[in-house]
Amino acid sequence: MMSNWEHKHIIELSKFSREDYNCVLGLAHRFKSLPKTGARKLPALQGKLVTTLFFEPSTRTRNSFELAAKKLSADVQSFSASNSSIKKGESSLDTALTYVAMGADVLIVRHQAAGIPEQLANELDKLGKTTAILNAGDGLHSHPSQALLDLYTLALYFNPINPLPNELTGKTILIVGDILHSRVARSNLWSLTACGANVILCGPPSLLPMEFLDFVKSPPPDNNKDPIDKRGEVSIIYSLDEALKEVDAIMTLRLQKERMQQNLLTSLNQYNVEFGINHQRLQRCGKSVPVLHPGPINRGVEMSSKLLDDRSICLVEEQVNNGIPIRMALLYLLAASEKF
Ligand code: CP
Repeated sequence: MMSNWEHKHIIELSKFSREDYNCVLGLAHRFKSLPKTGARKLPALQGKLVTTLFFEPSTRTRNSFELAAKKLSADVQSFSASNSSIKKGESSLDTALTYVAMGADVLIVRHQAAGIPEQLANELDKLGKTTAILNAGDGLHSHPSQALLDLYTLALYFNPINPLPNELTGKTILIVGDILHSRVARSNLWSLTACGANVILCGPPSLLPMEFLDFVKSPPPDNNKDPIDKRGEVSIIYSLDEALKEVDAIMTLRLQKERMQQNLLTSLNQYNVEFGINHQRLQRCGKSVPVLHPGPINRGVEMSSKLLDDRSICLVEEQVNNGIPIRMALLYLLAASEKF
């Protein structure tokens, strides 16, 4: 275990200090920089059991965590709700406890309801269990590993040799899309402002309430004090063409199609006209800026298909690739018993 690492569980990034971000990115970069030849696995999690407990679908997060765990020599066990005893009425807590009883050292939890990973962590602590909970996305609340891999991808873009959080200090990052329903945007707000980046939020007013201006000023009730002395600023600009003038990077978000049924959007086409990113629109930035997307993506809605396939600007492939060392770092910090 790293000496300055104090988290038993990873639930949300509002609890992360600058030291925590340095630790995760530094470790991830060491994992990413390992030679591609020779031993393909590190022994750090030998004898440990990592369980992915996904109550909601996932392609990237689940597979990336499972690959990361295998690269650290952990045993990996996989649960998915659709073919489990959840169908017979078993609760999320009893399901988690079943895997704890099988010896899980880390439970990686994705759930459609916000707060479930935290509730599980509290229950396990009360029961005196040593199992760590790693939040892999809960409701609209939090997706910490996604925000950390986004941060690492940006730091690598700005400094490929030494990609640390201070590369974000003073940068302006635009997050565009359905902010209201995005756990990724919420986690990115914590991580980017912690590293001194200024964040511009942009999207349709129905999906971007003004309350987001104060989001990082209101830490959750159990955080006695913000671990970050001075965060970057958050602003809202509803016009994308206006917002693009000042940015160093753009993070787009998946538009959740069900929002149209709720009358929060008129049409996908209208959304694309107002908030879709393409090569022509990027000219407004006046310089070359990278474009990110957490996936899954609606081609031609959040971003043009041509831009998505332009690897010189679009970092989606790198985000997926960087998810592996970031998740190796998180698993290592929670479960390794020896230093790397
Ligand atoms: N970005 C993300 O969470 O993707 P998945 O839903 O495929 O895991």
